[in-house]
Amino acid sequence: MKKIMFIFGTRPEAIKMAPVILECKNFGFEPVICLSGQHKDMVVPFMDFFKLKADHDLNVMKPNQSLAELTANILANAHKVLEAVKPDVVMVQGDTTTTFAGALAAFYQKIPVAHIEAGLRTFDKHSPFPEEINRQMVSTFAELHFPPTEETKKNLEKEGRTSGVVGTELIVTGNTSIDALRMAKDLIDDEAMMKKYSSIDFSKKIVLVTTHRRENHGEPLKDICRTLKKLHHEHGAEIVLPVHLNPNVKSVVENELGGVKGIHLLNPLEYPDFVFFMKKSYLIMTDSGGVQEEGPYFGKPILVMRDNTERPEGVTAGTSLLLGTKLETLYQKASELFTDVNQYQAFQKVVNPYGDGFASHKILAAVKRFLEP
Ligand code: UD1
Ligand code: UDP
Repeated sequence: MKKIMFIFGTRPEAIKMAPVILECKNFGFEPVICLSGQHKDMVVPFMDFFKLKADHDLNVMKPNQSLAELTANILANAHKVLEAVKPDVVMVQGDTTTTFAGALAAFYQKIPVAHIEAGLRTFDKHSPFPEEINRQMVSTFAELHFPPTEETKKNLEKEGRTSGVVGTELIVTGNTSIDALRMAKDLIDDEAMMKKYSSIDFSKKIVLVTTHRRENHGEPLKDICRTLKKLHHEHGAEIVLPVHLNPNVKSVVENELGGVKGIHLLNPLEYPDFVFFMKKSYLIMTDSGGVQEEGPYFGKPILVMRDNTERPEGVTAGTSLLLGTKLETLYQKASELFTDVNQYQAFQKVVNPYGDGFASHKILAAVKRFLEP
């Protein structure tokens, strides 16, 4: 049996890898899971939900670690696991430090790297930081590139990347985050969730918020918090904000918004709970990458709290608005969506540009053609 090693470590990678790992059995591949340990607290509960177990754990997290140390530790530790396991292909996803360093370790051993969610670009090397450079670097040495959309395929073509499968052009796969949603949504019991979160007033309009990007740490994050406070006071919105564990996020958010009734600062939510809140929300405000793909699945307007996005498809299709992080702009747009029904309803009619929920099958079919031509 051919072995595919999946190297990942952060929450979004786990969510987007799970459907591909589960699909391996339909292709006769043996999946080997290697966690970097970057987000152990957030990844392990998710793995339990999809009944996945890690085979290896690189255990790289230390408090206040620099990006250089994190990268070096993943690279060195992944090298040892790869030497022991000798997989036929290594799969990585997206643009985190685990993605880059895990892929590089495989490349150094001449193991073909397959890159899921390839070709996303802002063309600004400082934003998102360090993700833009992580993903560009993986593209330079990956063997198999899997762009989720037409736009990302074009980016890869301009760089001269090929599918890696003889006689086949790059295929557009869709995003595996939509596969995960398709698999998860029927497992969620809405009534039980409403009981679990009984302190939230579900009769009011819910604004679901996530923020963690390094470019937004400091003043931009403070402006985001002030916007949320204003939305709560002026429009009576219930604010639901699962707070990312990064201390640069946690301390600011708790300082600015702690103790306000109707503003719910929660621990990071387990995936089914977060999916439930996406379904229940009136609008979603986020600087996350993954949430920009998932929100449209439920027809929710996404206010993107960033200056640029590597996911322009949502903006073009009309599922997302790219607004930056300034209080005035964010507040004005959110207010309009609270009051202008026509504008709000337009979001519900858009077809999600991020895929049909069957990306994993397309990805593994290409890997099969690559390994068994
Ligand atoms: C990381 C990724 C980012 C991705 C994001 C998804 C890098 C450099 N950044 O950002 O690309 O979009 O994850 O969420 O790869 N922490 C914990 N427990 C956790 C998670 C984080 O304690 O489960 C704290 C630790 O103090 C850690 C800090 O957060 O040092 C930063 O974590 P890190 O993984 O470096 O960056 P993120 O901001 O989470
Ligand atoms: N998510 C979650 N719980 C939360 C917040 C987000 O399970 O409290 C999920 C969300 O559904 C999406 C992913 O985490 O699939 C996004 O992760 P994040 O925003 O941390 O990273 P990014 O996508 O920006 O890399």
